[in-house]
Order: sequence, then structure tokens, then C-alpha cells
Amino acid sequence: MELLDRVKSCKIVPVVVLKELSDTEPTLRALCDGGLPIAEITFRTSCAADAIRLGCEKFPDMLIGAGTVINAEQANRAIDCGAKFIVGPGFAAEVAEVCRMRKVLYLPGCVTPTEIITAISYGIEIVKFFPCSNYGGLGTIKALAAAFPAMKFLPTGGISEDNVLEYLAFDKIIACGGSWMMKGTPDEIREKTARAMAKVNG
Ligand code: 3PG
Repeated sequence: MELLDRVKSCKIVPVVVLKELSDTEPTLRALCDGGLPIAEITFRTSCAADAIRLGCEKFPDMLIGAGTVINAEQANRAIDCGAKFIVGPGFAAEVAEVCRMRKVLYLPGCVTPTEIITAISYGIEIVKFFPCSNYGGLGTIKALAAAFPAMKFLPTGGISEDNVLEYLAFDKIIACGGSWMMKGTPDEIREKTARAMAKVNG
């Protein structure tokens, strides 16, 4: 399956913050066991790159990407460690260049028409809409989609089990990002993930 089809078929992209490298295996296993073989491992902690490398080694069938990538150095490091996609909270031209040169999917955070126009000028077809609920949620995405009919969205920030179906029902949304299933022990992550997957696939 193509990368994008795999993201779409997962329907949810869990935003993963790993405090310790040793959390990588139990956390990613919990996601897989819960039925969600995808993870956006964020560069918010110092072990992010090592966690991506370890995750790719231990879970070769999982789709592992990097999140909170804000510069070229992080983008290169993430890709060197095996990241299959790069997500950013905003648009960074240097990250777009790295991803274009290395042929890796880049999902930059864009919430305004101007940011979307910049993304389009770099050949980007999908943007992360972040922080989604603060920027008007589904209503804003629909207004932007009307102006940019070819653009697809990955809303993230304020998505939960309660509103995820509403977002996924809009055909310009490829998947929803979120961290609501990531809190607690690995068992709790597995249970919350399984509940989320039952809901979106139900
Ligand atoms: C992110 O940084 O992408 C967000 O923390 C995810 O938002 P959420 O915690 O509201 O799901």
C-alpha cells in the first residue's frame, strides 16, 4: 500500500511524546496491539531520533514518522533514523527543502490561506491543521477547503473520541492527529487505542 493510503487507512495519527528511550517499545507495542500501527514521534524530547530508529528496528511494519520538526537538522536526523514522514507544527521552508530532496512526505502545520499558498508553492498537498480547535475546527477547515479544493488536511489539537467521527466525515480530511489515547500506562494506551479504532472503524 502507498504511504498515503496507509495513513488514510489508519484514520488516526497518534502524537507520541517519549520521555525516555526505554518507553519506546512498550508505547509502540501498545499502539500496534490496539490496532493502530502508526506513530508521530515528536521532537519535543531529546530521545526522539533514537526512539524513531529503535521503533523502526523493532516494529518494521509500523508507519513511524517524526513530529514537531522545525528545522532542517531535525528533519535530516529523523529521516536518517528511518522516519517515513515528517510533521511540523508550522511551515518551515528548510524542512520542506529537505523533504523534497529526500523524497519524504512533509505535513507542515498551516492554518491560514497565506500559509497554505506557501505550502502549495513547495508542492505540498496535505497540511496539518494545528492547533485545530483553537483555529476554528471543522468550520475553518471547510472554509479553507473551499478556497483550496486540491488541499487535504490532517487536523490535530483538540480532537478526541467525542468529535473524531465528525472530522473524518469530511472528505478533505485524510486522518486526524491526536494524543488522547496516549495518556497512562501501556495497558491504558492499548485500551484507549482499541476503543478509538472501534469507533472510527465501527
Ligand atoms: C500536538 O502537538 O500535535 C498536539 O499536542 C495534539 O493535540 P491534542 O493533545 O489536543 O490531541
